[in-house]
Amino acid sequence: MSQRYNRGAVEDFGRWREFSAGMWAWIFHKFTGWVLVGYLFTHIAVLSTATSGAAAYTGTIRTLESLLIVRLLEVGLLAVAVFHILNGVRLLFVDLGVGLTSQDRSFYASLILTGAITVASVPTFLAGAV
Ligand code: HEM
Repeated sequence: MSQRYNRGAVEDFGRWREFSAGMWAWIFHKFTGWVLVGYLFTHIAVLSTATSGAAAYTGTIRTLESLLIVRLLEVGLLAVAVFHILNGVRLLFVDLGVGLTSQDRSFYASLILTGAITVASVPTFLAGAV
């Protein structure tokens, strides 16, 4: 007979305190994956202004890049993309059976590397911001 587990109520949001590293990796991967899909639409919208001519496109980029919030969102986008790529490559290795016994450590390494790359990018993204 199959074993039964008590998974608790779905509505019990306090369960996040008991999440394992693997659960956080799963949540972050889902979150970052869908943020990237969302960004794709923004990206296409911005690029589409080029259909009105080079001057219109230059104006769009100049306006966007003059806004501090856009610069900050770009830092966030980099963090999301870098984590998704690093954790995604990690998952592909896990799928191949590589590093099965050190999954927690490789997840923490993805997080630390994402943090380091994101912090290092800040001067570039904020250069010239008002
Ligand atoms: C080098 C780049 C990337 C790598 C290595 C990568 C890797 C992965 C992997 C391995 C999964 C499956 C995770 C699992 O086993 O559950 C995944 C899921 C996903 N990825 Fe990526 N990915 C990359 C880029 C992208 C981009 C550019 C987007 C969006 C435009 C994206 C969106 C998603 C989404 C939506 C999921 C499914 C999330 C879910 O479980 O609901 N990924 N990615």
